[in-house]
Amino acid sequence: MSTWANLGLQDSASPLMEQLIFFHDHALLILVMITVLVGYLMFMLFFNSYINRFLLHGQLIEMIWTILPAIILLFIALPSLRLLYLLDEINEPSVTLKSIGHQWYWSYEYSDFNNIEFDSYMIPTNELTNDGFRLLDVDNRVILPMNSQIRILVTAADVIHSWTIPALGVKVDGPPGRLNQTNFFINRPGLFYGQCSEICGANHSFMPIVIESVPVNYFIKWISNNMNS
Ligand code: CUA
Repeated sequence: MSTWANLGLQDSASPLMEQLIFFHDHALLILVMITVLVGYLMFMLFFNSYINRFLLHGQLIEMIWTILPAIILLFIALPSLRLLYLLDEINEPSVTLKSIGHQWYWSYEYSDFNNIEFDSYMIPTNELTNDGFRLLDVDNRVILPMNSQIRILVTAADVIHSWTIPALGVKVDGPPGRLNQTNFFINRPGLFYGQCSEICGANHSFMPIVIESVPVNYFIKWISNNMNS
């Protein structure tokens, strides 16, 4: 999760988020190179002595400074497109989780397993224990197996919500009346925190998401315990 003074991206917990971080660094590097070059040129303009009184055109330099930025943009556009299509690829998911946004909490359904379903509310500050995170912890966490391909179906019951987990690189809008799909692969155990990221009403800030990533055998145990009850 994000902690104090963390201005960058969170540590990734999925291969897709790792790729997103690589792409961010790549784009930032190009941005720095452009900024340095343009900054240098603008600074050097102060020392221009304006001696070329009869200079009216320069075909060659205009060709260069038109085509070169177009090529540089390709270096950002092509990896960006690769990632865009990679994020949408569904690769034989072993678990499907259905997530429904409400004003203002999330509810979840495990349709593969006898339709286990529950609501997930934020824990209010006055009920928080010492090891809890304020405005970020929920009463019922989403339990998911690590090292498995997981499909998530997102929708909403009232207004548009958005199911967002920064560490997993997942951000899917839940519009009422429509079903959105994406998938992810968690590559380590742990707790991953997220928040709704569509402005959905007065308590928009108070419908967090907590994913508990556990080993597969533990997940199966949890599923079978909940199916019997
Ligand atoms: Cu739900 Cu913002």
